[in-house]
Amino acid sequence: MPLSILIIGAGCAGPALALMLQKSDPRHNVTVIERFPSLRTGGQQLDLKSQGIPIARGMGLLDALKAACVHETGMKLVDHNGKALMQFGVKPAKEHGTHGLGLTNEYEIMRGDMVKVFYDASIAERQKIKEDRGQEGNLTYKFNTTATHLDQSEDGVNVTFSDGQIQQFDLVVAADGQNSRTRRMAFSNDVNAQCFKTLGVHAAYYDIPRVESDDSDAHIYFAPGSRMVMTRTGDRPITQVYLFIMKDKARHEHFKSVHKLPLEKQKEAWIEVFHDAGWECGRFVEGMKTTDDFYAHEVGQVHMPQLYSGRVVLLGDSGYCPSPFTGMGTTLSFIGSYILTGELAKHGNDVGSALQAYHDQMQTPLEKYQRMAGGAETNFYPSSQLGITVTNHVLWVLSSLKIDKLMMWVGGWVPESKDGWELPMYTGLSLRDESKV
Ligand SMILES: Cc1cc2nc3c(=O)[nH]c(=O)nc-3n(C[C@H](O)[C@H](O)[C@H](O)COP(=O)(O)OP(=O)(O)OC[C@H]3O[C@@H](n4cnc5c(N)ncnc54)[C@H](O)[C@@H]3O)c2cc1C
Ligand SMILES: *[C@@H]1O[C@H](CO)[C@@H](O)[C@H](O)[C@H]1NC(C)=O
Ligand SMILES: *[C@@H]1O[C@H](CO)[C@@H](O)[C@H](O)[C@H]1NC(C)=O
Ligand SMILES: *[C@@H]1O[C@H](CO)[C@@H](O)[C@H](O)[C@H]1NC(C)=O
Ligand SMILES: *[C@@H]1O[C@H](CO)[C@@H](O)[C@H](O)[C@H]1NC(C)=O
Repeated sequence: MPLSILIIGAGCAGPALALMLQKSDPRHNVTVIERFPSLRTGGQQLDLKSQGIPIARGMGLLDALKAACVHETGMKLVDHNGKALMQFGVKPAKEHGTHGLGLTNEYEIMRGDMVKVFYDASIAERQKIKEDRGQEGNLTYKFNTTATHLDQSEDGVNVTFSDGQIQQFDLVVAADGQNSRTRRMAFSNDVNAQCFKTLGVHAAYYDIPRVESDDSDAHIYFAPGSRMVMTRTGDRPITQVYLFIMKDKARHEHFKSVHKLPLEKQKEAWIEVFHDAGWECGRFVEGMKTTDDFYAHEVGQVHMPQLYSGRVVLLGDSGYCPSPFTGMGTTLSFIGSYILTGELAKHGNDVGSALQAYHDQMQTPLEKYQRMAGGAETNFYPSSQLGITVTNHVLWVLSSLKIDKLMMWVGGWVPESKDGWELPMYTGLSLRDESKV
């Protein structure tokens, strides 16, 4: 029997799952709701890597993603005057999108492009189903819509929507991000209170107009007072600004509540902290005032004892946010979409067994990709004065930005080490390119 499935959240994970479900069983009735009035295409650079690549290739989307790659030329560590203290070059890709990518097997893509590629593909798949089967495919996107109440029984979930309608589903997927409201509705207060492991870091991401002095390198600047600033421009007409407030007890408590404020108030709080940080922070905070693509959050990981509760299942950041410092959030959300789809098919759409199998299958990739250098609790940014600990700072940045790989790249061709974990096979679903894994 095909299922009626509600996906809550149209970020990276939601549309990817919708696409895979349609490919796996075109009879599924899939509804995706998104709180925003339109597709939310904000956000800065995301990584797609390891098992995310065969999955994207299997969806036939690798060329579209390759075309959307941001090409960065290297990285500079700068001082408060913008003078380069250290510089790492990247051998420029010889042919657009082939050479450089082939070496690292990594794709850096703007979040908006990533979301749109999967969303468009899911709409195209619906059209294809309609043409092949002579009927309207069963995929519906509803924007400006949230779920306000979930009522579960053995045979379904009655969902109350923000417009007051109630509809019954066989399966509800929470793809609503790190602060998932669906997770809060479906799991106990205890589990919810404990699942978020903070790194004690707060981050803001936004973009500003590119100026002439913004070259195609990433720039990193450590300011006194546990502040870090990064810019990335690559081959884009905009410059991405990343502000980080590293471990700082007083600010940590303050910023926990800042994230809940209206956007304008959030910006004021960030400007207050960064306006006098040195380097080009004056320009960066000016640019923040007018950007309409501002996203800030507390950086941490989500660890759930179980990835489902009854017929409600967690996908992507809602279930296992690994934090941007791992660069694995998007890839994990695609691995999750792939495994969830595969297990539903394998278990003949028996939701209970499929969700248990999904939980089990996810444990190895989660253990592998949520692991952080030194563990999530480590104070990786020493609060002591800049200069004394600059080596530590540099080491952390190098590891978090995978600069080791960039250096290998400069030094010559070194193949990426094997991951030691293989995607499970779900034969006959054409969810990945099995010939090239
Ligand atoms: C605006 C934005 C900007 C981001 N920028 C970056 C970035 O610069 N760098 C980075 O590493 N990561 C960023 N992320 C996080 C990154 O997208 C995820 O870590 C990763 O891609 C996993 O995706 P996800 O689909 O699980 O979650 P997300 O991509 O966070 O998507 C969740 C979606 O659910 C929607 N949603 C939330 N609550 C509800 C609700 N109650 N009802 C319905 N819909 C809801 C959100 O609007 C969003 O569209 C950003 C996320 C967002 C939402
Ligand atoms: C849409 O879903 C219904 C119920 O699951 C199913 O009977 C119908 O065949 C589906 N439509 C298509 C085009 O597959
Ligand atoms: C499929 O989902 C849509 C949107 O949620 C709903 O309007 C429709 O009634 C559903 N169709 C079936 C056959 O369940
Ligand atoms: C979103 O929905 C609310 C009510 O649910 C409505 O007041 C508002 O006008 C809607 N906004 C858009 C852009 O559709
Ligand atoms: C869900 O709604 C249906 C019909 O509206 C009802 O028969 C069923 O008992 C409800 N289930 C729950 C768990 O409330």
